[in-house]
Amino acid sequence: MPPSRSTVVHPLRVAIVGGGGHIGLPLGLFLCDVGHTVTIVDTNSQGLEDIAAGRMPFHERGADELLPGCLASGRFHLTTQVTPLRGQDVVIVTIGTPVDEYLDPNIRTFDRVLGGVLDQMRDGQLLIIRSTVFPGVTERLGRQVAERGLNVHVTYCPERIAQGQALEEFTKLPQLVSGCTPEATQHAFAFFSELGAEVIELTTVEAELAKLFSNSYRYINFAVSNQFYMLAERHGADFERVHEAVTRNYPRMQGFARAGFAGGPCLLKDTMQLASFNHNLLTLGQHAMMINEGLPRFLVDQLKASRNLRNETVGVLGMAFKGNCDDPRSSLSYKLRKVLTLECRRVLCTDPYIQDPEFVSLDDCLVQSDVLILGACHNDYRDLQINKPLVDVFGFIRPHKIENPKSKI
Ligand SMILES: NC(=O)c1ccc[n+]([C@@H]2O[C@H](COP(=O)([O-])OP(=O)(O)OC[C@H]3O[C@@H](n4cnc5c(N)ncnc54)[C@H](O)[C@@H]3O)[C@@H](O)[C@H]2O)c1
Repeated sequence: MPPSRSTVVHPLRVAIVGGGGHIGLPLGLFLCDVGHTVTIVDTNSQGLEDIAAGRMPFHERGADELLPGCLASGRFHLTTQVTPLRGQDVVIVTIGTPVDEYLDPNIRTFDRVLGGVLDQMRDGQLLIIRSTVFPGVTERLGRQVAERGLNVHVTYCPERIAQGQALEEFTKLPQLVSGCTPEATQHAFAFFSELGAEVIELTTVEAELAKLFSNSYRYINFAVSNQFYMLAERHGADFERVHEAVTRNYPRMQGFARAGFAGGPCLLKDTMQLASFNHNLLTLGQHAMMINEGLPRFLVDQLKASRNLRNETVGVLGMAFKGNCDDPRSSLSYKLRKVLTLECRRVLCTDPYIQDPEFVSLDDCLVQSDVLILGACHNDYRDLQINKPLVDVFGFIRPHKIENPKSKI
């Protein structure tokens, strides 16, 4: 059963542009559940058909249970057109904001979509940019709105949930709000306060940086652990044992992440946006990219040092970019597969959440592989009894526990 939430006192009409995506759809379900009338605007007509039929297009905890109630409420609408925007109180934008082939933000797509959105807007509406944007984009949008002679309240309120946990985190996480005018900020403040969230006010550029700092910090943090992992492995030490030793009952190391693949659609992309904003200078972030992106190659080189991979079948367990998730976007398991394809006789991939005709079942992968590499920490794998060599950079399947020497006496 989905958690019961109290309904809002001031129900509004809210449209979400990009609302069929990983950020927009959970947000739309949440807003509908608390009493707002929600219109999902998304160009992905297949995705909207799935949603209309009660099928979530991707896995998000609690969303399968919430969707039927939203559809039955009469307050949840789906469209590929931006024309209904004029009839809304609030317009939220959650389209993807990727970097281009030069690792620079793709501003032109954002401008094109926002141009179409503004064409449909009218005075008095609240516009919330929820997509992650390059610093300065919100102020620039505010100027464009003013040049059009529109009195729309332009705000930037970044999304900070972890994919898969959105419905639990919306009200748990403080909401960062910022606006191009004090009045705009007030409107955004009121909107998020009514949802029961703690709200923190920033300037637009501060909020843009806050979002990029959050993801870049995590990305760099993972790189620290991944570099330590590679260092330990090169010197024949067990990273997991060192990790456990230094984090146990030692408060100053609680932020020390485990090693593992740092892929996915956001962390690297946002680190590169921050570098781009700072005239391509973010030395820590750029080094983090080399370390994190280099981990699959390192694992294969380590294997090659002890085995003749040319004659072997290697199985990859988990292709999603993180555990218990069905999202393959920018997953380093795919990079691992590519490196392995060049080095070994055969590569087998499996994932319980991703349908791909090239993947094999878990059983086939376990039986047919000579050696296995964990690619994503799906819970299904945690208790696997594996009687073959296994590379588990995450320390997930076989956590190493250091026994207290006293207990042995
Ligand atoms: N995925 C995450 O964990 C996460 C977390 C925080 C912030 N963000 C940010 O949120 C934004 C969205 O990310 P996402 O993962 O939801 O991406 P996504 O690709 O899953 O969703 C984007 C949606 O926008 C739709 N779309 C594209 N062009 C459109 C248009 N012209 N009109 C209407 N819809 C259009 C797409 O069809 C898609 O459904 C990005 O800026 C991302 O950086 C993502």
